[in-house]
Formats: sequence, C-alpha cells, structure tokens
Amino acid sequence: MSDRNAEQLPTTPPMSGPGFYDERLLRTHLEQAAAKLPGSDYYVVLRWIHEILQPKTYIEIGVRNGVSLRQALPVTLRLGIDPAPALIGGARSNERIFPMTSDEFFECHDLRQTLGVPAFGLAFIDGLHLWEQALQDFIHLERIAGPESAILIHDCLPLDALTSQRQRTTDFYSGDVWKLAVCLKEQRPDLRMVTVRTGPTGLCIVNQLDRTSTILASRRNEYVERYTRLDYTDFVTRPERLPKTIGNVRDEIVSWFAGPLETGHGHDPTTRISTTS
Ligand SMILES: C[S@@+](CC[C@H](N)C(=O)[O-])C[C@H]1O[C@@H](n2cnc3c(N)ncnc32)[C@H](O)[C@@H]1O
Repeated sequence: MSDRNAEQLPTTPPMSGPGFYDERLLRTHLEQAAAKLPGSDYYVVLRWIHEILQPKTYIEIGVRNGVSLRQALPVTLRLGIDPAPALIGGARSNERIFPMTSDEFFECHDLRQTLGVPAFGLAFIDGLHLWEQALQDFIHLERIAGPESAILIHDCLPLDALTSQRQRTTDFYSGDVWKLAVCLKEQRPDLRMVTVRTGPTGLCIVNQLDRTSTILASRRNEYVERYTRLDYTDFVTRPERLPKTIGNVRDEIVSWFAGPLETGHGHDPTTRISTTS
C-alpha cells in the first residue's frame, strides 16, 4: 500500500456540470467507462433494486437533477438531501428535498420522524465524493437501519487514477469513494456486501446492517488516516480487498438479495425480504 500521507481537502461540493473542465476528455472517459463496464448502467440497476426490494422509503444523499431519485417506484416516499438540488420539474408530491449537506441534515433532523417509520427501506450514497464523507453518510444511515434496510454506494469501481483523485480535475469523476468499500469489507465483516459491475463506475450494495454497531464511529479517525492513504494502484493490484462483484444482470441481483444471511450478525433468516417483483 502507498504510504502517501492523507491530504486535507476542503469538504465543499466540487465543481460539476458537463464540460466544466474538458469536454473532449469527458467524451473519452465516457467511452472508456462504457468499454470497461458495458451493459445496463446504474440507473437501470437502481430501478431493478427498487423493483426487487419495493421499499416504502428511499433516502438519497446527492440528488442533483433527480434522475437517480426518480428510479424509485411511484409508491415509495423519496427523501433527497443535496446542498444544490436542481430537480427537473421541481419536487413531486412523493418527494421531500432538503437543500443542505448530509452532515447538516443529520445534525438537525431525526430521519425516523421525518419519514414516519422506524427504519428506512433503501438508501443511496452519492453526495460529496470523498470517501470519509461517504463513511460519515454510511454511519448516519446505519443508525436508522432495520433488518430489511439496504444501503447503495455509488462509484466503487473507479475508471482510472485521474478520475478517482481526491481533488477533482475532470467532469467524469468518482473521487475516492471506493475506499469505503475496502474499509467496510475489512472492518465490518458482519455486513453483507457486493458490487454490481454497472457503468459508469459500479454500485456497491450493503445489507445485514446493524444499527447497534459503534465501531465505525468510534474508530473513524483511525480509519480515515489508514484508508485515505490508499490510491488507485491499490485498487488495481489488490482486488481481494474489495467486495466480490456480480454482473449488471437483474437475475444476478435478485439471487444476491435472496442469498443466505451471513454468519456473525444474528438476524433471523425468516426476516429475509421478498425477491419477487
Ligand atoms: C454525482 S451528483 C448526484 C447524481 C445523482 N445521484 C444521479 O445519479 O443522478 C452529486 C451531488 O451531490 C451533491 N453534494 C455534494 N456535497 C454534498 C453533501 N455534503 N451532502 C449531500 N449532497 C452533496 C452535489 O450538489 C451533487 O448534486
């Protein structure tokens, strides 16, 4: 592993928008990503997951223009958190948008009260693309998870070194969020995880969550120090540190959700979700 010191970066949203940096490079990156992870993209995969789980509630951190938010089923209550939301056509009746950062949201809202349920159904982390913020988002979400909740983490299969740097310099950008998948796999073996090989940069699914677990919060600083040091070379050369992957094929995702609970967590197997849709 690289022993480069963890850099300190501002935690403000990065510049974004197609063509903000270099439009030709964006086209190249999109072509490369399509070649690397062909087939159904993460919007399609998100829709499948909504159809499989049929969650009553869906939380999205990082909604931008609402394309991913609107992969949720019409009956699902959608809650979006984003300091700069730009939803196409504005918020719909089943959408509640909080124009603030995820940290601000969790500081002043009890999500269970906001949603009116004891635990959320499905959540998607796609906000600030620095892994330690994604870790913080995961910690906040897991505290209000139930046995049937699942968390999706975007961008766990980065395209290359340039687009997975911590400092954004390209339109196509995943940041270093993939390090969260490594951290969770190593530090939380009680979680069940898999990454779907879907374009442009992969989608990690985590379930078997445990709202009573405190290890991520209590050792957060140590983990930030340790995992921020990883770089893209580690991603390429140490695949065994990452969760296993499955194809962007609906049946494979259905099978994964229907698979057995893994040991060490203590959930009753009869609480498995239905996988019919
Ligand atoms: C990649 S975009 C989200 C794209 C959207 N999920 C989709 O797939 O269509 C990232 C979004 O995260 C938002 N964001 C940045 N920092 C954030 C933070 N700290 N908390 C929540 N959202 C944040 C940005 O404003 C931006 O709209």
